[in-house]
Amino acid sequence: MKKHRKKHSVQITDPQIEEYALNFTSEESKEVKEVVASSDEELEYIDMLSGNMVGMLLKLLISISGAQRILEVGTFTGYSALMMAEALEGRGQIKTIEMNIRYQELAETHFKKYDKHGVIELIKGNAQDILPEIEGIFDLIFIDADKLRYEFYFEESINKLKNGGLIITDNVLWNGTVLEPNDHKAEALHAFNKKVAEDKRVEQVLLPIRDGLMIARKL
Ligand SMILES: C[S@@+](CC[C@H](N)C(=O)[O-])C[C@H]1O[C@@H](n2cnc3c(N)ncnc32)[C@H](O)[C@@H]1O
Repeated sequence: MKKHRKKHSVQITDPQIEEYALNFTSEESKEVKEVVASSDEELEYIDMLSGNMVGMLLKLLISISGAQRILEVGTFTGYSALMMAEALEGRGQIKTIEMNIRYQELAETHFKKYDKHGVIELIKGNAQDILPEIEGIFDLIFIDADKLRYEFYFEESINKLKNGGLIITDNVLWNGTVLEPNDHKAEALHAFNKKVAEDKRVEQVLLPIRDGLMIARKL
């Protein structure tokens, strides 16, 4: 798990508690573990990968809510998309957007090999341009890309979300730096958290797991 963490990060959860919690969280499937291993082999750092706790929570939320139309902003090597695809069991579709060519190639390889129901569609390009163009209504949207644009992604997403649908946003505690923002990303994420909290269109919970996960439900 060491390479999943950001370098020089303040851990939000006590490391012993986190380890304990992970020990009692369902394990990733053999296929998803292979995606982690392959990403680790190909890349210097895989700390962008959301990891077992967030991945399992996404899976559970999809299963509980019955979400079938899913949109992801920020694919990386395909870990979270494949975790979500497992929850769908062939019953829906995931569109996932990635702009980095190296990550697109790796994700494509992983989807070819492990997306056994063919539910994942990789959309290549910049989410800033692509998101406004995407048509259709979604049940669940996972935002996990460039942190400075979270407010924009949220606004675009809420217009494409069904009533009762979920917008889940990763890294909203940004290693705890949102408490006293001292750079653009921490400032942007603090502003994002404030915006969601004041937004009457949603009810939300900010969970202090891993790097902070905001779960907002459209009313
Ligand atoms: C934190 S990673 C995503 C991790 C992935 N969701 C997972 O859990 O495995 C963020 C990804 O967003 C991509 N990204 C950043 N800005 C983007 C943009 N404007 N459009 C599309 N992808 C972007 C990065 O290249 C990176 O692969």
